[in-house]
Amino acid sequence: PSHRDEDDFAAGLRIYDPAFMNTAALSSKITYIDGEKGTLMHRGYPIEQLAEKSDFLEVAYLLIYGDLPNKPQSERWRWEIMHHTFLSDDLSRMMQAHRYDAHPMAIFASTFSAMSAFSPEANPALQGQNLYINDKAAMNKQIVRILGKATTVAANAMRIRINRPFVLPRSDLTYTENMLFMMDHMNEPSSYVPDPRLAKALDVLFVLHADHEMNCSTAAMTHVGSSLVDPYSAIAAAACALYGPLHGGANEAVIRMLQGIGSVDKVPAFIEGVKNRKQLLFGFGHRIYKNTDPRSKIIREVADTVFEIIGAKEPLIEVAIALKDAALGDAWFQEKKLYPNVDYWSGLVYKALGFPLDFFPVLFAVPRVAGWIAHWKQQIDSGTNKIARPRQLYVGEKRRDYVPLDKRE
Ligand code: ACO
Repeated sequence: PSHRDEDDFAAGLRIYDPAFMNTAALSSKITYIDGEKGTLMHRGYPIEQLAEKSDFLEVAYLLIYGDLPNKPQSERWRWEIMHHTFLSDDLSRMMQAHRYDAHPMAIFASTFSAMSAFSPEANPALQGQNLYINDKAAMNKQIVRILGKATTVAANAMRIRINRPFVLPRSDLTYTENMLFMMDHMNEPSSYVPDPRLAKALDVLFVLHADHEMNCSTAAMTHVGSSLVDPYSAIAAAACALYGPLHGGANEAVIRMLQGIGSVDKVPAFIEGVKNRKQLLFGFGHRIYKNTDPRSKIIREVADTVFEIIGAKEPLIEVAIALKDAALGDAWFQEKKLYPNVDYWSGLVYKALGFPLDFFPVLFAVPRVAGWIAHWKQQIDSGTNKIARPRQLYVGEKRRDYVPLDKRE
């Protein structure tokens, strides 16, 4: 409480809720989570069914438009997205200006920001603030462009990271096959064709990452989008929010943590360090889930499939299992209801697939673009968008008079 409470809060009830622990900023029809039961549903469909029976582009359509597409809608949707995967030469040149050791998430976010500059026709500041309220064709066009180009921006960021020239997209492949093709991360000759089983495994991971209601990056998307800025700028803001190690950067942090632990015999000491608050157990804990994250369970199965296809044993898997078992069996973690989240196993899959560690958050960002767009569209379509503008509790100085520099102590 501050001495200003009476002045500032006299006008009526305001909720002081740091980090929005308990504040619903909007109503939504997109995603439902029951954190106590470990339930996740998109538009009413359980995530387990979508991961098993659907694919990423279909789930993206479902999130954005509310229903599963029928056959012609599905074909048109896939065709549109795969034919919007090319970047302009100017944008590619801009991407090439990044250093080889730039973090790929920084490249991803800055390229989306630049896409705003490259797309004046998409900018409500230039085309009129009601552009996307009045012109749904313009909105739909940006949606397929964003989903198509996200894979190419991501793949280029990866190519910069490994100091290789960009690979042009192939619209005859599936969404994840094309992404693997453009990344050509195994450095095979140009005849490289991704293993469809690995592309399918990546697609399942994409389904699992596609949306998660009002997480930090989606909240950033809706917050920034509420100013009616263009969607590329809002996605850049959301990507920056995802970049952090408490959010999408956790998949990278998990592997660095496991590498730091090194071997199973060091696990007990690490657990003690977490309990003594020396470090976080990355990939554990969640604001909403106080039970197992349902995505984590499915990713664990995907991980086994990928390890089997690749045929090489992932050396960190034993440390990961021992660490997970030690935490789940410990009263300190049980009391705090800390369970593995989506990032605990995903990093091991990406590592087995041969991606550089700092590319992992980008593999989270590409599918999450679908969720960001769904929330942006929902907000614009609602017709009731208002600029997001939280209040604060002022705890600073009371009024005081300016002191000239030569009179200050
Ligand atoms: N390691 C150690 N302690 C933890 C962890 C963790 N991973 N997560 C939570 N705790 C502890 C906190 O210290 C706190 O203890 P206290 O009440 O004694 O102070 C208690 O559990 C509650 O945690 P909060 O940080 O208050 O929970 P919050 O909802 O704010 O944070 C978060 C959630 C950020 C995910 C947190 O669990 C965390 O930092 N996890 C590690 C990073 C991570 O894996 N992030 C990915 C999340 S999933 C996603 O974004 C995709």
